[in-house]
Amino acid sequence: MLTLRSTAKVNLYLRVGPRRPDGFHGLVSWFCSVGLEDELEFGPGEVRGVISLTCDHPEVPCDERNLIVKAGALLAAEGGGDRPGVRVHLRKRIPMGGGLGGGSSNAAAALRGLQQVWGIQLDPEREARIAAQLGSDVPFFLNAPSAICRGRGERITRVAQPVPKGIVLLLPPIAMPTPAVYRKFDEMGLGTDLEAVERTLPDPRLRAEELLPTLVNDLEAPAFAISKELAQLRDRAEKVAGRPVRMSGSGSTLFTLCDEVASAEGMAARLGRDLGIRAVGCALGI
Ligand code: C5P
Repeated sequence: MLTLRSTAKVNLYLRVGPRRPDGFHGLVSWFCSVGLEDELEFGPGEVRGVISLTCDHPEVPCDERNLIVKAGALLAAEGGGDRPGVRVHLRKRIPMGGGLGGGSSNAAAALRGLQQVWGIQLDPEREARIAAQLGSDVPFFLNAPSAICRGRGERITRVAQPVPKGIVLLLPPIAMPTPAVYRKFDEMGLGTDLEAVERTLPDPRLRAEELLPTLVNDLEAPAFAISKELAQLRDRAEKVAGRPVRMSGSGSTLFTLCDEVASAEGMAARLGRDLGIRAVGCALGI
């Protein structure tokens, strides 16, 4: 039996270029792991070549729609495809549809776990290509805890972890489907000049108070245009926290940073109570 942890991410910084001919958008984004994690347990399965997935969360699809099952199919197809069956149990703790990359993180953990179980080791380039095929955020999780991702997410440069060690995650019950947010971004005629952005990347050495005002997420404008409720929540959160609050990915998760994990836990308790939503204080990076 093999058990792997699968951590969530936030986009501390997310700049988005205009829509490309392939429908995707170029990005420059600083991804960082956060201490909110799922767990994947791998055991022997009954049917050769089949990944049978179970999950303790009733809303998680356990068929081919799940990126764990897709990762298994792509990996099994490498080198002939005849692999022993594997049973995977997913303990889901990362909220879904919130911009925290839970499904992508699970896919990366499955790629790693299944290679161990099957006794194979892909060359890193091949592994990276399969990860990018599974989703734009998956390659980051092979390079966690802190990286700048470019292209549609697949061109990765590992960077120093941020000096702030704590993050407050605000988890409103608002679903923000990623394709809809990008569609709104296009409708609004948005698209940042990504070459210019390269000269103004945030500095990981800054403490929370100096780092926060330099963070930007270009998907906030379209997400807030789709959900006024989310826009208002961000404004209220900034007032209660007394510091900038940003959105992660395409939302709806909002976050702010603290230099220490204990301060993030304290601030999460206060924000959760005052705003009436779920708030979690945890570690930023590992
Ligand atoms: O790659 P992934 O499945 O995560 O992307 C989901 C959707 O988000 C894509 O279909 C696309 O509409 C949008 N997207 C994008 N540009 C990116 C990443 C995602 O337009 N760099």
